[in-house]
Amino acid sequence: MKNQVLEAYVGLQWGDEGKGKEVDEAVDRSKNNNKKTIVVRYQGGTNAGHTTYVKDKNNNIVKFVTHAAPSGLASNVDIAIGPDVAFNPVAFMDEVNQARKSFNYNGRIMISERTPILFDYHKKLDAWLETLSTKKIGTTMSGIGPLYMDKDRRSTRITFEQYISDKFPDRLRDVLNLKARELSALKSNKYLDEVIDEILAVHNPVRKELREMKVKEILEYRLADYQKEGNNIIIEGSQGTYLDVDMGTIPDTTSSHLLAPYAFPSLGLDRRDFKIIGVEKLYPTRVGNGVMPTLDEKDGFGKTVAEIGGEKGATTGRARRAGYPDWVLIKRAVTLNSCDGIIITRADVAQNLLVRPCVYYEYDGTKNQEVPLDISKVKPIYLGEISVQDGSFYWTLWKDNIDLSDPEKVHDVLKDKREFYVKNGFDSLPDGLKKYIKLHDDCVGCKTIGVSIGPGRGETVRIN
Ligand code: IMP
Repeated sequence: MKNQVLEAYVGLQWGDEGKGKEVDEAVDRSKNNNKKTIVVRYQGGTNAGHTTYVKDKNNNIVKFVTHAAPSGLASNVDIAIGPDVAFNPVAFMDEVNQARKSFNYNGRIMISERTPILFDYHKKLDAWLETLSTKKIGTTMSGIGPLYMDKDRRSTRITFEQYISDKFPDRLRDVLNLKARELSALKSNKYLDEVIDEILAVHNPVRKELREMKVKEILEYRLADYQKEGNNIIIEGSQGTYLDVDMGTIPDTTSSHLLAPYAFPSLGLDRRDFKIIGVEKLYPTRVGNGVMPTLDEKDGFGKTVAEIGGEKGATTGRARRAGYPDWVLIKRAVTLNSCDGIIITRADVAQNLLVRPCVYYEYDGTKNQEVPLDISKVKPIYLGEISVQDGSFYWTLWKDNIDLSDPEKVHDVLKDKREFYVKNGFDSLPDGLKKYIKLHDDCVGCKTIGVSIGPGRGETVRIN
């Protein structure tokens, strides 16, 4: 189908790569074919956080944050929730209602009948498990681990179909009975009936709303129809490759399968029809515990980019640790996700800084490009220093002390410059950055197809 956009976006590091912004750009591009667009989430839950700036009914720019809903909510397109999402219905309905209030959200919503439901007790168990553990993961306390444990245990999973059915109170009682021993660790002295009443008081209005919205679907068939009709499907990853439960930096991972190829069987879509796009922040960041081989705590690079980039978790507000680019990690992430292209984000944030990409690891007496399970033993080997700056432009920005976390203000100041780069493409970019991209692509074995040079929509330079 002409101009049909079928793309999957996946983070190549530890999350917070800027997937939401790139999904937003893809949504914008998808409008060219005059068909509908859906943004689908296939993993994770409210541990993800995505901030967008949208125009409200009065044309004012307002900050809009989604945790439970796909970021397509903010662009007023259709959205879907896959069967492997840790679905928090209360948070989801809050976001949908906020979108309706702010900008009359009127897209179609589809939720797989299989999707497991996350309750408040999952969050409490998450907190309890962290206090018990001698080696903490530093979770977002969103209940993710306990929810996926319930799903894998099967007998304690409550599906979306069960949640909105009249039989939900009975199903809830069965599940709570099965979980009685672990829930007793929470030291609540409430009786089961009281606990059930409390859950029903919170969830009954939400269940009613979701039932009336008629959003329950046999999702795999509906998405297939959607694709056949020539509509656009954009699959939105959450977190990033190195938080994947199997292929990430064990034990400091999340509890789900984040790699893009997992999306396809769970959504019933054919990988061969889609482009998988890896999103890589020019410098990696990490929130929570766990090793980052190129973490920079002494040169000042990590601290400076984190400061300029306003690197704080959208979900927890915790500071993100930042480091030098790690192309050994990216090379593996490209392979695991079978990426068709990469978008490098936040290239503007690294302006005027000397960047040192890591191109090899040294461990066990060898120098190679393989990522072992225990990354605490690797010593990064850097390519050398490559300047990504383009001269005086960003000095002016910093001297004027513009707050980079305020995209509208930044946009005003940098608009012309960024428009120039976007319009004139890759060749017009500063030489240092072009050289960086060329070396990067040779090292990681995948082509960079876009470089994001600003936080706003349209501020990604496409590379053919
Ligand atoms: P959980 O997913 O809340 O269980 O947290 C497990 C680990 O993943 C912790 O280190 C979190 O900080 C990290 N994490 C989870 N979600 C995100 C995310 O969306 N961005 C960045 N880190 C995340």
